[in-house]
Amino acid sequence: MTKAVAADMDWNNLGFKYWDLPYRYQAVYKDGKWQKGGLVEDSNLTLSEAAEDFHYGQEVFEGLKAYRCKDGSVNLFRPEMNAKRMQDSAKRMCMATYPIEDFVAAVKEVVKANQEFIPPYGTGGSLYIRPFMIGTEPMVGVKPSKTYVFRVFATPVGAYIKGLTPMPYFVSEFDRAAYAGTGQAKTAGNYAGSLYPSMKAKGEGYADCLYLDPREHKYIDEFGGANFYGVTKDGQFVTPKSDSILPSVTKKSLLEIAADLGMNPTEKQIKMSDFDQFNEAGAMGTAAVISPVGSLTYKDQKFVPFSETETGPYTKKLYDELTGIQMSERPDKRGWVQKV
Ligand code: PLP
Ligand code: COI
Repeated sequence: MTKAVAADMDWNNLGFKYWDLPYRYQAVYKDGKWQKGGLVEDSNLTLSEAAEDFHYGQEVFEGLKAYRCKDGSVNLFRPEMNAKRMQDSAKRMCMATYPIEDFVAAVKEVVKANQEFIPPYGTGGSLYIRPFMIGTEPMVGVKPSKTYVFRVFATPVGAYIKGLTPMPYFVSEFDRAAYAGTGQAKTAGNYAGSLYPSMKAKGEGYADCLYLDPREHKYIDEFGGANFYGVTKDGQFVTPKSDSILPSVTKKSLLEIAADLGMNPTEKQIKMSDFDQFNEAGAMGTAAVISPVGSLTYKDQKFVPFSETETGPYTKKLYDELTGIQMSERPDKRGWVQKV
């Protein structure tokens, strides 16, 4: 793949795609410990055909962003939470864990080394950072690898789902994760399993699927790549409590922001049959930021919580506050932002 050239980037129309930037960080785990890592230029990895990851799927990943501020400085948003979640995902997948402080340092190194690719302030773009880890030991028996590669690459992106544009969503009859399975881990298999339902929904004109709880198909779980929230008619922020969803950094942050905004936030089981209690609903995540649900189709019934074309006032307030903190335009009273 040819290397990206900063002068050729169309910052206002980035979409969500991979660019081969100059530098990435790599560290290798062998002989029971992490070896000293560092920046590398080659975007390719050479692995044995029998590497664990290819067959039995020992893979975990993260997604976070670096934001260019008005004064030219660069922000990260709560990177330790991604580092901790990667450790939790790795434990679930029987993998080595990468130290939190080394994760954050690696992310900062990658951002600094590729800084000309951080989209300029005002374009709506950001530098999406993708840390991941794979089991690399050659094997054919089903067991955990004894060797791992930890890598962090970055790519400039626009909004994953375009800004605050309401989108149509579809309640899937499939599950993205099993009950008591790996839904809380950010691991490749959950996403591989979601491709079939997601492609089916997209083929029918939906932005993506909303999944129900895998045990009873009664409660709302989450979207394929984002958590769910609803705002009740009296302005309460509600988000699902479930063991089969990814613990989202954006969700945890919006729970606190919603409290500041007097939205009396709660995490609880939400019955799909109670969806009409919501006057607004949305998807929340690093890539998605906050994306309003324009409509939700469930068993041939289409619900429109607010409007198919307009964004509701609570969603707008939450979005402005979250993105304002991320770009240092609103006070960061909890110390969520770190300069690179
Ligand atoms: N749920 C899933 C399945 C995701 O892939 C993501 C994205 O990382 C999220 C939720 C949102 O998590 P976060 O806010 O930490 O990006
Ligand atoms: C993220 O928001 O960082 C994700 O990993 C979601 C993915 C579907 C792009």
